[in-house]
Amino acid sequence: MVSAGAPLGVFDSGLGGLTVVRALRRSLPGEHIVYLGDTARVPYGTRSAETILRYARSCAAELTQRGVKALVIACNTVSAVAVERLRAELDLPVMGVIVPGATAVVRVAEQHGAQRVGVLGTLGTIASNAYPRAVAQLSTRIEVIGQAAPLLVPLVEEGWLEGDVPRLAVRRYLEPLVAAGVGALVLGCTHYPLLHGLIAEVATELRGAPLPVVDSAEATVTLVEAWMREGIIGQRAGGALGRLELLVTDRPTSFAEQAGRFLTEPLPEVELIELRP
Ligand code: DGL
Repeated sequence: MVSAGAPLGVFDSGLGGLTVVRALRRSLPGEHIVYLGDTARVPYGTRSAETILRYARSCAAELTQRGVKALVIACNTVSAVAVERLRAELDLPVMGVIVPGATAVVRVAEQHGAQRVGVLGTLGTIASNAYPRAVAQLSTRIEVIGQAAPLLVPLVEEGWLEGDVPRLAVRRYLEPLVAAGVGALVLGCTHYPLLHGLIAEVATELRGAPLPVVDSAEATVTLVEAWMREGIIGQRAGGALGRLELLVTDRPTSFAEQAGRFLTEPLPEVELIELRP
């Protein structure tokens, strides 16, 4: 096992995984984190499973080479198609965001007596059926209705988080889910928590009552904490704030500007790196 003082490696296709970093900083501020955003190849959500796996392998290789103690795949699209393969190929704990998100939405559905849950995700995540599979492992009574919401990633990347344009897009994507009678919703893309407030508001308007909305980023950090308690991942000792390193494969300046929306702490310099193919 890599030492407990080593960093957690977190990666995503771009910015969205910073929602997981934000949740990690809140709950586990003592951990060092190396975050990799593959901004040269974002979005992953519209690509084939083979391409996503190839990209995921190169991100994972970069982080393992930097000595991380565990990998947190902070991207639903990669988690949907590559988590098992990476876990089999790598010699360290590997966690995706789908099982935590599915676990959280099943819990909320059970609390509210809901028999149908909705998932908003990228085309890749919805096409993979990863959420219905993960939910089926946890409950045979809950049906999952998936809805691809491809326009939401570019809106978040552009910083369009409020106003008519995101509101209309969110409304179009939520209408079929509300019509299908979902009683809880999971944000199955790490970009979407940035639109959490708007999604909850529009869902309430459409449904005439609040719809519980679960964020897979928060749920993932709950699982990281559980793995630390179980000794699967070592926990860094000492109370000082852990170091944060930010790596990207393209446009570090614009990444740094956007990252300010996700993280409240002063940001380190964003390092531009090249991944081996
Ligand atoms: N971060 C990705 C996800 O959670 C969305 C962005 C992309 O399509 O690359 O699915």
